[in-house]
Amino acid sequence: MTKYIAVAGKGGTGKTTFTALLIKYLSANNKKAILAVDADPNANLNEALGLNVEFTISDILNELKDPKAVPAGMTKDIFVEYKLSQSIIETKDIDLLVMGGPQGPGCYCYANDLLRKHLETLGKNYEYVIVDSEAGLEHISRKTIPRVDTLFVISDCSARGIRSAGRVYQLLKSLNNQVGLVQLVVTKVNEEQLKELEQEIVQTGLALGGTVPFDPMVIEFDVQSKPLISLPEASPAVQAVFQLLHALEI
Ligand SMILES: Nc1ncnc2c1ncn2[C@@H]1O[C@H](COP(=O)(O)OP(=O)(O)OP(=O)(O)O)[C@@H](O)[C@H]1O
Ligand SMILES: [Mg+2]
Repeated sequence: MTKYIAVAGKGGTGKTTFTALLIKYLSANNKKAILAVDADPNANLNEALGLNVEFTISDILNELKDPKAVPAGMTKDIFVEYKLSQSIIETKDIDLLVMGGPQGPGCYCYANDLLRKHLETLGKNYEYVIVDSEAGLEHISRKTIPRVDTLFVISDCSARGIRSAGRVYQLLKSLNNQVGLVQLVVTKVNEEQLKELEQEIVQTGLALGGTVPFDPMVIEFDVQSKPLISLPEASPAVQAVFQLLHALEI
């Protein structure tokens, strides 16, 4: 059965970096059928994976605002499904789907229903669906992402980041979604700083899945626009993420 893993947290905490390294870990462990979903409106997972995006799901939904967009002789449903199937970026081991930005005013129930059905069918073709989500968990709450088996809540090493992670956890609980495993991951942190954050972490009620140290190689790759998925295995961030995923039997 497909395993759905989502990564969420406040902006700039290290979600996309963690997501890219999670995908790297799965690839390194011979998991081949991986669908990466960029569900952050401020999408940048494609860059971390070294992939180019031509159009997003939002682009398709916006196009539908114009009734003339549907070609003559095609029903709207078939047109949307065709467009959705075109929006996947396919590579040998990893495919990518980008949700894109907010859709502006108006009701999108029809399109969202189709998207939900599309993702549910699509997900069945993969062993893993990995979602880079924002803190508002929009696609998870709307159930466009059908399920979450494991949620990683990412925080950087600040009390604000940890509190924000706590709010993501509260939000998740209020949604009443069944989530198998929820783990906090603190990034860009050392042992001393982690100790100082201990009380804040306890107050969130989240289990600490692990930490990722500050890694200058991550910065270097980002400065040079190199895909993070190509970070060497000697990188401290790669090692930490691999270790924590291995310990959690992901
Ligand atoms: N372990 C790390 N060591 C050093 N820098 C890191 C690490 N993880 C992330 N960063 C840096 O922190 C910044 C934010 O990382 P990232 O883009 O992964 O966060 P994000 O939560 O996805 O952000 P956004 O909300 O903008 O999508 C980037 O500049 C990245 O280079
Ligand atoms: Mg990001």
